[in-house]
Amino acid sequence: MNAFGRRLAILSLFSLFLFSSTALATTVLAIDYGSDYIKASLIKPGMPFDVILDKDSKRKIRSSVAWKNGERLFGQDAFNLATRFPKDSYNSLKYLLGMPANADIISYYTSFAPPDVAPSTRFTAAVRRGSSTAARESGAVPATWDVEELVAMQLAYVRALAVDVAGPGERVQDVVVTVPAFFSQFERDAIADAVELAGLRLLALVNDGSAVAVNYAMTRQFPQRERHIVYDAGAASTRATVVTFAGQGKKQDTTLLTVNGVGYDRVAGGTELDRRMREILVEEFEHKHGVRIRDDPKAMMKLWKEAERLKAILSANNEASSRVESVYNDIDFSMKVTRQVFESACADMKVRFVQPMYEALDNANLTLADIDSVILTGGATRIPMVRAALAAVVGEEKLAMNVNSDEAAVLGAALHGATLSRQFRTKNIKLSDIAPYDVQVSYLAEAKSTDASDAPPRTITSLAFAKGSRTGTRKTLTFRRKNDFSLAFSYKSPPASEIPVEMLDARISGVAEALANITEADGIDPVIKVTILFSESGFVSVPEAIAYAEMKDDSLAGKLKGLFGDGPSAEDGSTSTVDSSASSSPPKTTKAPATPKDITVPLNVTVKFPSVAPMGLEQKREARQRLIKMEAEEAAIAAREEQRNILEGYLYKLRDLLESDSQHPFVTHSQEPERRAISRQLKDVSSWFHTHADNAQTKDFIEKRSSLEALERPIVHRIKEIEEFPQALNMSQMWNWRTRLFLTEALDNLTAEERAGTTGRYTKVELDELEKTLKEHETWLNERVEKQKSVPMNRDPVIDTGEMRKRAKVLETQLQRLSQKKPPRVRPSSSSKTQVPLPTDEPESGGGQGKHDEL
Ligand SMILES: *[C@@H]1O[C@H](CO)[C@@H](O)[C@H](O)[C@H]1NC(C)=O
Ligand SMILES: *[C@@H]1O[C@H](CO)[C@@H](O)[C@H](O)[C@H]1NC(C)=O
Ligand SMILES: *[C@@H]1O[C@H](CO)[C@@H](O)[C@H](O)[C@H]1NC(C)=O
Ligand SMILES: *[C@@H]1O[C@H](CO)[C@@H](O)[C@H](O)[C@H]1NC(C)=O
Ligand SMILES: *[C@@H]1O[C@H](CO)[C@@H](O)[C@H](O)[C@H]1NC(C)=O
Repeated sequence: MNAFGRRLAILSLFSLFLFSSTALATTVLAIDYGSDYIKASLIKPGMPFDVILDKDSKRKIRSSVAWKNGERLFGQDAFNLATRFPKDSYNSLKYLLGMPANADIISYYTSFAPPDVAPSTRFTAAVRRGSSTAARESGAVPATWDVEELVAMQLAYVRALAVDVAGPGERVQDVVVTVPAFFSQFERDAIADAVELAGLRLLALVNDGSAVAVNYAMTRQFPQRERHIVYDAGAASTRATVVTFAGQGKKQDTTLLTVNGVGYDRVAGGTELDRRMREILVEEFEHKHGVRIRDDPKAMMKLWKEAERLKAILSANNEASSRVESVYNDIDFSMKVTRQVFESACADMKVRFVQPMYEALDNANLTLADIDSVILTGGATRIPMVRAALAAVVGEEKLAMNVNSDEAAVLGAALHGATLSRQFRTKNIKLSDIAPYDVQVSYLAEAKSTDASDAPPRTITSLAFAKGSRTGTRKTLTFRRKNDFSLAFSYKSPPASEIPVEMLDARISGVAEALANITEADGIDPVIKVTILFSESGFVSVPEAIAYAEMKDDSLAGKLKGLFGDGPSAEDGSTSTVDSSASSSPPKTTKAPATPKDITVPLNVTVKFPSVAPMGLEQKREARQRLIKMEAEEAAIAAREEQRNILEGYLYKLRDLLESDSQHPFVTHSQEPERRAISRQLKDVSSWFHTHADNAQTKDFIEKRSSLEALERPIVHRIKEIEEFPQALNMSQMWNWRTRLFLTEALDNLTAEERAGTTGRYTKVELDELEKTLKEHETWLNERVEKQKSVPMNRDPVIDTGEMRKRAKVLETQLQRLSQKKPPRVRPSSSSKTQVPLPTDEPESGGGQGKHDEL
């Protein structure tokens, strides 16, 4: 099946399942945030399920934001700017998300990306603003951008594209974002913060390999268990995910996706190959022209773009010619690159592209023999060298190209989001993912009172979530403590070089007070229970801590009665009753427990970030305000531009109208003084426009246009009225004629009925009323039409088509009401067969029925 066929299949299948199950209109946005390209998809009931197009109708959006003289650009425009304003065009930011400023990946990033990286206030990597970035911003602006803020701008841009697709008034808020499985807590926090800054609400993060698996499962059934490796070689990294697919239920209506293992390489990807390719070009240039260009960001970006282009050409050809004008000091560059030269420059990368696959299998305790196929996705899998390296180890026949290598992740993420939001009926796909790293928890052993006081307390460390733990795992840790204590969560080993292991410290406080309360309530043997969670989105957190005890047996019966009320006579259960009757005062904060003999007192959990901290509340608020302000300013500028253009166009139009020949409606429907007035005002506004347009405000443009429109309006009105008059007249006359016809017939019938002594369908009063309305209408119409005959075309008409329609409608309504009236009921004595047939083909109306019944 080709890509198009596949998409159709997805569409038709999906539309079967996809409808909102609630009245609440809802959408889910899915974003595959890549280092080079963003792919996005919007799920909305009644709308085809597809990716969102960029402004230039491309199916992928360049991950880029840039400034040009204070103007913000996105997508390909922003990327293209890098060759002219290299420090104002921010690309490949995914490398920097959640990274400390000293991480190895930072020096890697700066080896190919021009912006300078500096530590943020949180010591994460931030990028320095170029000169153009802050051009329009006033006041104190930070010297660097937090990466989260720049990514948020891109997400907000995607959101705006989604709003365009969804239609006005549609809320686009809930979002699912893909991340590489290897993303640490820090990286996940960073993307989550970016989502928040963009004004979106994070429904979930989903590992991109798992999202591809969801996409794969979308159109397939699994009566037999299948096991595949989702192999994704993207721009920034390569990931391999071993996934087991199994159908469940009698009808196979549920599909279980179980991730068994992941492997990755944080650098093997398209960008590294671009870097190698550029190195070939740079070396050739410097060698040929004897100049050093490595320190010139513009030259380096020109060759970067060229390297990307050549890499793509060499994926399909054995040779590519490079020509770049004015790379440096007006020196043009040309070179031939063969695939062989390129591949030998990347020779060491082959093994790195394959390694993640072995690692994933290893982590899953499986071998290649256990795998049905390797599902290829990601742009770099189109590179022959990568394909060949994979084929060499798994065999060409196991390489599967059965998902869209660019869009599978985002489409899978969208379906995953639809499932999570529960607002849609979707194919039931249950995803169970895993932890990529060992997470351990450490705490100080409680000092025993018998210990020598100077002995340092022992630190106890244990695995909280082992690598391979399921997402959504919740555990309860139980402690015997008398005082507040802390739990330190950390990675057992660094997720990447120079990434710290310390993740978060959770301080459990209020212990002593809670224990005192438990003792007072006759609880025995109290313990502290701390709930820890490895969430579906891959975050480690401490959702809850409590002090817990069971009550003493001997007092149980009495206490139960006092504390929790005694069954049906529930009014006794109120705390005030307890307070006065119980001998000891009970813990007020005690929740009504599941079994009455439990006592549960909530404890405080305070989380601190010992290494890489997510953005603080205040910082997020400021950044969000900054973005909102920026967007508002841009919207204001766009609105001003629009009004300026409208006025300019209007000036041209009026000038043309004034110059048109004597047969033109504008001339025939206007008087000389009117045209002169317009001409004078046009001259004024035009000269104002030429001298002031650059500094004028939106409202000035609107005011100037209004002043001209006011003068033109009577003429426009005349033209429109005279154009519409014949039809309006036809309409009015038609209703006169129809009413007359009806009346004649009905009066004849009435006469006949009176003569026969039967009850007719209409009363005399009704018919007289109609006739009165008709006569009034006829008189009004005739008078006005007669008057209008002597009004010249360039004067305001005395008859208004709007009023004509309104008056004709009055007549029409009255006529309709009568003609829809039901005939009189036939006496019950007569057979139902002889019932008078309905006089009109109109359905009976409630009003007519009611009126008749009263008769
Ligand atoms: C893989 O095998 C090892 C050793 O037999 C075992 O400790 C580990 O739990 C297994 N892992 C999985 C994911 O089954
Ligand atoms: C628990 O937190 C609340 C709210 O932040 C605070 O008022 C209270 O003093 C804290 N209790 C303890 C024992 O720390
Ligand atoms: C302990 O009991 C006291 C007195 O009833 C109450 O004010 C306090 O909130 C309780 N503390 C906790 C942690 O439940
Ligand atoms: C008037 O309306 C009738 C019926 O809609 C149409 O056939 C006729 O051409 C119209 N005449 C004019 C002058 O619009
Ligand atoms: C007049 O009577 C005839 C015969 O009963 C009927 O078909 C027609 O609809 C009546 N017309 C009106 C306007 O009531």
